[in-house]
Amino acid sequence: MVFNIGIDLGTTNSAMAVYDDESESVQMVENFSGDPTTPSVVQVLEDDVIVGKDALANQERYPDRTLARTKRDMGSDTTYEIDGTEYPPQRVAGYILQKLKEDAEESEFGDDVDGAVITVPYYFGGSARQATEDAGTKFADLSVFRLMNEPTAACYAYGYQEESDETLFVYDLGGGTFDATLVEVTEDEIDVIDSNGDDELGGENFDDELYEFAREELIDRGASDPNESKHTKATLREKVKETKEQLSGREDAAIAYQADDFYEVELSRSEFHDLTQDLVDKTISLTEELFDDGDYEVDDIDNVLLVGGSTRMHHVQDAVEEFFGMEPSTDTNPDQVVAKGAALEAAQYDPEGGNLPTQSITDILSHSLGVETHNDDGPNQFDPILEKGADLPNRETKPYGNPDETEQNLIVNVIQGEADEANHEDNEELGRFVLEDVPGDTKLNVEFYVKEDATLDVTAEAENRDIEGGINISDGIGLTQEEAGRIKEETQDYTSKAVQRREADAETDD
Ligand SMILES: Nc1ncnc2c1ncn2[C@@H]1O[C@H](COP(=O)(O)OP(=O)(O)OP(=O)(O)O)[C@@H](O)[C@H]1O
Ligand SMILES: [Mg+2]
Repeated sequence: MVFNIGIDLGTTNSAMAVYDDESESVQMVENFSGDPTTPSVVQVLEDDVIVGKDALANQERYPDRTLARTKRDMGSDTTYEIDGTEYPPQRVAGYILQKLKEDAEESEFGDDVDGAVITVPYYFGGSARQATEDAGTKFADLSVFRLMNEPTAACYAYGYQEESDETLFVYDLGGGTFDATLVEVTEDEIDVIDSNGDDELGGENFDDELYEFAREELIDRGASDPNESKHTKATLREKVKETKEQLSGREDAAIAYQADDFYEVELSRSEFHDLTQDLVDKTISLTEELFDDGDYEVDDIDNVLLVGGSTRMHHVQDAVEEFFGMEPSTDTNPDQVVAKGAALEAAQYDPEGGNLPTQSITDILSHSLGVETHNDDGPNQFDPILEKGADLPNRETKPYGNPDETEQNLIVNVIQGEADEANHEDNEELGRFVLEDVPGDTKLNVEFYVKEDATLDVTAEAENRDIEGGINISDGIGLTQEEAGRIKEETQDYTSKAVQRREADAETDD
């Protein structure tokens, strides 16, 4: 039987789920070892590639061959070298997806995975989304129906269970990322209102703090510096993570470390909290920012949903409870709910999943989208056309023109981000197209159309002239790094000839 799965491709753990027609419920798909989650760890050995629990268990033995936490590098130029071969992060993600697919095909739910919905952090930009899509399609032979934002997926699973009207706050602290999201859920709709987050804040940062504490303590006790070897470094890292997790279940624990001698570094839960309270406070500040604009008050929140394995930590739960003045919902399993939401979405692509109740999802843009313009302040200006936070789908048109009086080729350079300078390092170029032979006094209408699935159509049309152009930026708004690099090279010498915003027209049109 052919079936579709939802995949939560996490920094630390990945998980998959399926909508089961027979029981009319969402089920986790267990991996080959019988676990509902698979560590996102890949080990490249001379004659084999190991993924998951076994790779994690052997990371101390093969520190140079173990690839972990690579989700943080998705969409960047980072590569990892093993035996002279360069592995980009999407290749690593591809190995994980391939393993999940194989395990799913061994499960009770069917023999053949048709395709998947894969979740990504809300804060992922275009190239990280594209890298995720590539991991599935190019490296894991998996059709990717669409990418879905993690908090939206969590709400989908939650809303599906609850079937009630609520204003929800989703607090998602995973291994590598933090997402704070405000959502309205009704019986047939999920409406994402606003979101904030940090894609470099998660359980790993708590491990880092605890690692430094243990390292100093060990050196004080006469141990050699664990940082001196990759093996001891990997050992201690794993040990502090275990201890951190134990401290969610009990008041005291010890970091057991075997190197030149055996050491036990005892630690109480409150000591651990003191070491890491700053990180928790940071998540609360990001949460607070969502209420700054005054559209929503903390009192408007009916329920707080905790997502991500790191929300098992007591000081995290306490801080959330204190901020909202209510106990957060623990109805759902924090490290499975995202995969379950993705499975519900994946079932929509299943021709046999017809009796599944559907909720329409209104997602929002995680970054502003617009064009590079050349205005009175000079070239290299970013002019947003669709603002961050705009509902999807959305369509907006703005008038532009040729900055000079002479006929010339103009570039429509599609930019994503919030920085005022178009080519700022915090902005991302999604693509560009050239309008040829544009005369001096020409009005160009540039339209941005983002669909529900976060694909973008940009078109430019000259009024009363036969000049038009466009680009479709599909697959989660982004180009592959390679393509983006090529386009940049080809068109570098044109950059000063970007379109110019027609201010007067803009005002009359608005
Ligand atoms: N009992 C526990 N106490 C404290 N932390 C825990 C516990 N169980 C899991 N964690 C932490 O949760 C994190 C993993 O959570 P999760 O599986 O939700 O993240 P992820 O989906 O891999 O990451 P992300 O969503 O950021 O990409 C790890 O840092 C792990 O140490
Ligand atoms: Mg996660």
